[in-house]
Amino acid sequence: MLLCGCVLLFLGSVLAHPLNEMSLDAQWDSWKTTHLREYNGLGEEVIRRTIWEKNMRLIEAHNEEAALGIHSYELGMNHLGDMTSEEIAEKLTGLQVPMNRDRSNTWIPDNNVVKIPRSIDYRKKGMVTPVKNQLSCGSCWAFSSAGALEGQLAKTTGKLIDLSPQNLVDCVTENNGCGGGYMTNAFEYVEENGGIDTEEAYPYLGQDGQCAYNASGMGAQCRGFKEIPEGDEWALTKAVVKVGPVAVGIDATLSTFQFYQRGVYYDPNCNKDDINHAVLAVGYGQTAKGMKFWIVKNSWSESWGKQGYIMMARNRGNACGIANLASYPIM
Ligand SMILES: *[C@@H]1O[C@H](CO)[C@@H](O)[C@H](O)[C@H]1NC(C)=O
Repeated sequence: MLLCGCVLLFLGSVLAHPLNEMSLDAQWDSWKTTHLREYNGLGEEVIRRTIWEKNMRLIEAHNEEAALGIHSYELGMNHLGDMTSEEIAEKLTGLQVPMNRDRSNTWIPDNNVVKIPRSIDYRKKGMVTPVKNQLSCGSCWAFSSAGALEGQLAKTTGKLIDLSPQNLVDCVTENNGCGGGYMTNAFEYVEENGGIDTEEAYPYLGQDGQCAYNASGMGAQCRGFKEIPEGDEWALTKAVVKVGPVAVGIDATLSTFQFYQRGVYYDPNCNKDDINHAVLAVGYGQTAKGMKFWIVKNSWSESWGKQGYIMMARNRGNACGIANLASYPIM
C-alpha cells in the first residue's frame, strides 16, 4: 500500500512538473547527442546546461500560455539551446546599418498597376533555394542578398541556382565580412564587379577569407538596387508582389525568435528601432483566422524555426521593423 502511494505521488509530481530533475538530465544528454555537443570540462558544461535549462523552462512556459490562446505561435528546443539570446545576437546575426544611407534609390510604388493577391509564396514558384546555415559568422546580410539575387535570377531566366554568400563575405569591401554588413552594399558590389559567383564555384566556409571571385564561375549579375520606403509595410507588400523575394532587416535578438517553431510570430518586445538581422521575405499570407503574416527565410539551417522559415506578423505596426530596411536588386 505504501509503495503504491509513493508511486502515485511520484507520477503525480511528474505530471505536475514535466521538467523534473530526472527527466531533465536525460533530456540534456539526448540534446547533447543530437546536436553533437562536447564541452571543455565540467565547468563549461555546467554553464551550458544552466542556459539550456533556462531556455527549456522559457519554452515550456510560453507553450503553456500559447495553449491558452495568449500567443499566436509556439516555441521549441533546437540546436541553439545552450546559447543565450545575447550570444545568438553576437554570433548569428550581423546586419550593420550604414551611417549615411543614400536615399536616392527609394522605390516608389505605382498605385494603379499592381494587383495585390491575398497570398503569395515564391517557394511554390521555384524562386527560392534551400535554407542555408551561416554558421558562427555574422554573414546574414550575405545570405539575405544572395537570396534576393537568386529570386531575380529565377524570375528572369527560369533557373534556380544557389549563389555564393562567401563571395560577398570575402569581396564586399564596404561591408565587414563575418563582422557584419548591409545588403545594398552587396548589390552595389555585384553591379560594379560584373557578377557574383555560384555557390558551387565559390563554396561557403563561414569565415573571412581573401576575395577569390572568378568570372568563370559567375552565376548572376545585377544593375543596382531599390530600397522600400522606410517602415511602409504596404509598400513592402507591393514590392513582394511586383518584384519577388525582398531582402529585409529585423530585430532577431529575442529568445522567442531564437526558439520560434510554428504559428504567427508576434512579440510586443520586438524592437523595430533595433534592426540587427537580415533575412528574406519570400511571400505572405494569412491564417484561417485571418491573422496576416510574412513568410520569412532565415539562414540558421532547416533545423531552426519551421523548416528554416518563420511566419512573422504582417500589417501589425511594422512588427520587428520588417519594413524598415528592405531592398531588392535590379536584374
Ligand atoms: C578561374 O576558373 C577557371 C575554371 O575553373 C580556372 O581555369 C582558372 O584558373 C580560374 N582563375 C583563377 C584566377 O583562379
